[in-house]
Amino acid sequence: MIVTTAQLFKCAYGKYAVGAFNINNLEQTVGLFRGSLESKAPFIIQISQGARKYTDKRFLEAIIRAADQVFPEAVFAVHLDHGDEATCYDCIDSGFYSSVMIDASHESFEKNIEITKRVVDRAHAKGISVEAELGQLGGVEEHVVGTVKLTKPAEAKEFVQRTGCDSLAVAIGTSHGAFKFKAEPGKKLGLHFEVVTEIEKLLPGFPMVLHGSSSVPKSEVDRINAAGGKIKDSSGVPEEDLAKAGKMGVCKVNIDTDGRLVWTRVHREMFRDMPEKFDLRDFGKPFIGEYAKMIAGKNQMLGSAGHLDEVRAALKKA
Ligand code: G3H
Ligand code: 13P
Ligand code: ZN
Repeated sequence: MIVTTAQLFKCAYGKYAVGAFNINNLEQTVGLFRGSLESKAPFIIQISQGARKYTDKRFLEAIIRAADQVFPEAVFAVHLDHGDEATCYDCIDSGFYSSVMIDASHESFEKNIEITKRVVDRAHAKGISVEAELGQLGGVEEHVVGTVKLTKPAEAKEFVQRTGCDSLAVAIGTSHGAFKFKAEPGKKLGLHFEVVTEIEKLLPGFPMVLHGSSSVPKSEVDRINAAGGKIKDSSGVPEEDLAKAGKMGVCKVNIDTDGRLVWTRVHREMFRDMPEKFDLRDFGKPFIGEYAKMIAGKNQMLGSAGHLDEVRAALKKA
């Protein structure tokens, strides 16, 4: 069942974070639904602009609609990840998305407000909620290469009040990709939880979002490298930090890279160990299983696991 992102946040706020997972193809989608149902968790399926262009956005929408039928027990929202203004409008007008992210975080404060407000007005007219971003993550975003600019809590309050956005992606030291401490290899990341605490005080009940939340497990990277990969100096966000964030008003935690690592590990090991195979389904099937296992583990860690029946009951009441 496709629900609004706002409904999921209402159930989760202060108790747990909902996992938001990027998908690009059929195998990831099936793994995501299976893992979420196995762990009895609501979830957010998110589509980046890159994913929409990879083949054609209509394939992804059709796959998600089919998954909704194949897995009728699932409760999930559909979200545009890191959208520009034009893509946000395309998603709002499509009638398919529960929420969009307008990412104008690379613009000045005033310009970010101006763009976000335009998207909010158009989205709210159709009952769709909007995630915005203030501050800048480190590393590489879809269209931005930048250094970390932590979100300033007082600006966050003003931004939310002036734009009317429904959730805010905050920069607290995470970054996208598999090299989150690139500047200082080996050093513990140390997220700036004081920013989250301060925003929670200034905007009580307002949902925050954490991007760049893959943990980049060493065991996964080691297996990839043992099977011919060359991923060096990787690092991610410790899982205990993500679980902690979920209790502090962070309602959505974005995970993409860890899924890419699962794909790479499964395929590299199979190419190494079973060189005689050439049926793509021999590779796709184990990937779906391993991806589902990863999703279930993430949902346990975020605290969303086990909440499916409760969310369904809350939706019925509303
Ligand atoms: O934050 C970006 C997500 O990991 C999506 O990545 O733009 O390569 O699809 P992508
Ligand atoms: P990771 O690269 O840490 O998985 O972050 C994904 C993300 O933030 C998608 O918007
Ligand atoms: Zn992101």
